[in-house]
Amino acid sequence: MNNVTIIEHPLVQHKISLLRDINTGSKEFRELVSETAMLMCYEATRDLPLKTVEVQTPVAIAKTKVISGRKLAFVPVLRAGLSMVDGAVKLVPAAKIGHVGIFRDPDTKDAVEYYSKLPFDIAERDVIVTDVMLATGGTAAKTVDIIKKAGAKSVKIMCILACPEGIENVHKLHPDVEIYCGAVDEKLDENMYIIPGLGDAGDRIFGTK
Ligand code: URA
Repeated sequence: MNNVTIIEHPLVQHKISLLRDINTGSKEFRELVSETAMLMCYEATRDLPLKTVEVQTPVAIAKTKVISGRKLAFVPVLRAGLSMVDGAVKLVPAAKIGHVGIFRDPDTKDAVEYYSKLPFDIAERDVIVTDVMLATGGTAAKTVDIIKKAGAKSVKIMCILACPEGIENVHKLHPDVEIYCGAVDEKLDENMYIIPGLGDAGDRIFGTK
């Protein structure tokens, strides 16, 4: 699969197994989502450019590397994507955070934007969209549309679970977008749930069911 990175790290895989477990309660689920997002963010930022600087250590001058150039923004998709942000910003505290809210029109099934607030300088930032589940891909693709229309040139998607349909639908519209996920599950069911998945991520995070 082009432009899809599955994060095979044992810690990510172990935490995903706990997330899938029906017996994992909301408190633990939230903590696991945040921890998994932090580990995934480590991989999703692997290509950040570096430059060499000189730093005075207590004993000598070291030629050493710091991140250079463009800055980052995280854009969680409401509402489940919110729970990935605190893990991600622990790694990149200077990142700005936007928000996008989208609902599926019950008649047309189209993804409809109901809220968006993005950093004013988003065009100068590399953007990582966070959502727990990449299911149909409609919400993710619409979120990328909104971010690109605001001027951003580099957009990645970080999700904990994806499925082939969602990846295909995002890449039909946005082939340039790299998708980082912990696993690509088998399929969507007739209710658009990922199988085997982990259930309704929003409900499990916020305890709404
Ligand atoms: N959203 C979820 O929360 N779970 C799914 O399985 C699909 C979409």
